[in-house]
Amino acid sequence: MRISVIGCGYLGAVHAASMAKLGHDVIGIDTDAAKVQALALGEAPFYEPGLPELLRETVTTGRLVFTTEIAAAAEAQVHFVCVGTPQKRGEYAADLRFVDAAITGLLPYLRAGSLVAGKSTVPVGTAHRLAGLVTGAQAEAMLAWNPEFLREGYAVKDTLHPDRIVYGIPGGPGSAAGVRAEKILDEVYATPLAEHIPKVVTDYTTAELVKVAANSFLATKISFINAMAELCEATGADVTQLADAIGYDSRIGRKFLNAGLGFGGGCLPKDIRAFMARAGELGVDQALSFLREVDSINMRRRVRMVDLAREVCGGSIVGRRVAVLGAAFKPDSDDVRDSPALNVAAQMQLQGAHVVVTDPEAIANAQLAWPTLSFASSAEDAAAGADVVLLLTEWRQYRELDPVAFGRLVSGRRIIDGRNVLDPFTWRAAGWTYRALGRGTAVQQPGVEVHAALAAQGVSPTSP
Ligand code: UGA
Repeated sequence: MRISVIGCGYLGAVHAASMAKLGHDVIGIDTDAAKVQALALGEAPFYEPGLPELLRETVTTGRLVFTTEIAAAAEAQVHFVCVGTPQKRGEYAADLRFVDAAITGLLPYLRAGSLVAGKSTVPVGTAHRLAGLVTGAQAEAMLAWNPEFLREGYAVKDTLHPDRIVYGIPGGPGSAAGVRAEKILDEVYATPLAEHIPKVVTDYTTAELVKVAANSFLATKISFINAMAELCEATGADVTQLADAIGYDSRIGRKFLNAGLGFGGGCLPKDIRAFMARAGELGVDQALSFLREVDSINMRRRVRMVDLAREVCGGSIVGRRVAVLGAAFKPDSDDVRDSPALNVAAQMQLQGAHVVVTDPEAIANAQLAWPTLSFASSAEDAAAGADVVLLLTEWRQYRELDPVAFGRLVSGRRIIDGRNVLDPFTWRAAGWTYRALGRGTAVQQPGVEVHAALAAQGVSPTSP
């Protein structure tokens, strides 16, 4: 099929390359000339594992081209809208100006049988409004809403092998226009559908809600375990063991129960806020008032991290050298949008600490966002002479640091594990003060408490 992809950011660039990989002829369109130039050469303009290889492969076939000219969309039958919907300044609501501009820009190039497929995350009701614009411009054109569930860091895999495909089609399932739209989308996704990936065909509003409901659930799950972390901190319990134990219940599941510094990025935080704003407009704000608490729990983790660093530094961080490992909002990404790590680094800097941040991929983006912070190109350089080390983004290279060798670089062996990924015992054995979010002051060796309780009863823990 001939496909255009409007917006070539984290979502669109991967979608465009993946569609070409599936055998389609794809035109990627973006207003950013530098991005288009890089993509046209088969170079990824951001860090995403697997994307450079996929781009090189698909650009070489000639099936994938990029341009800044929206008129190039005229050649395509299916148009995927992949532009961003950031949070409006000073408001919770989503800013739809890029979606509106993309659709308006496309209108002159629609023809009979064209399908516009929205992938951007939008407030419920948007697709209905945009469908009016599409059919107003070309009565025989259609709009579908086809939300995207890819995770940064796994974007290529998630696009080529999604765990479900959702179509919101005009008139809902069974309508004549809906059937036509479904048929076109089935052709686009023929390869993943042949892998028996579940497909949900529904109306616009359900499709729009599926996306924000999924992200709200994920955010709630993370904040739930972080609320438990607060309880663990107050009682001396261990949130990682708690997560393991409740996660064995398959109704709960262990995924997305990693307690720590909480969620950030370009999706979860702004999506739950836009969802609350939309619920307010619909008169059902009470239904989502819990998301306000989800947001608050999440933001409290960042404050708690600064407080913990202060505590570990003996009551003040003024003039203290702080090494921050991680700037991206999560590992395997260079995205620093609403990054918890950078938020903590900036707070500490503003409170008088001398902060040095490092990240394997996100330093350039971090520098743009927080030019007043200091940056180092490696964990070792960042840690030189540090009074305290904060692990805030769990890149593999930080998880695998050798506490003995690393300990020789710092001036004080104090580490706070903001993501609960280090082994407390090896770090403590190497002379470090190890603290973590949600694990009290002393992380127990598994079973130690049990051993102590048994010893008090005069029973040897090793006795049969
Ligand atoms: C999220 C969703 O997971 C995707 O399904 C969705 O398509 C995407 O948003 C989107 O709307 O575009 P993403 O933002 O790439 O994907 O990142 P996640 O993997 O969801 O992580 C979000 C944040 O939660 C990160 O800051 C991560 O560190 C944090 N997190 C994740 C935790 O604190 N604990 C966990 O157990 C898991």
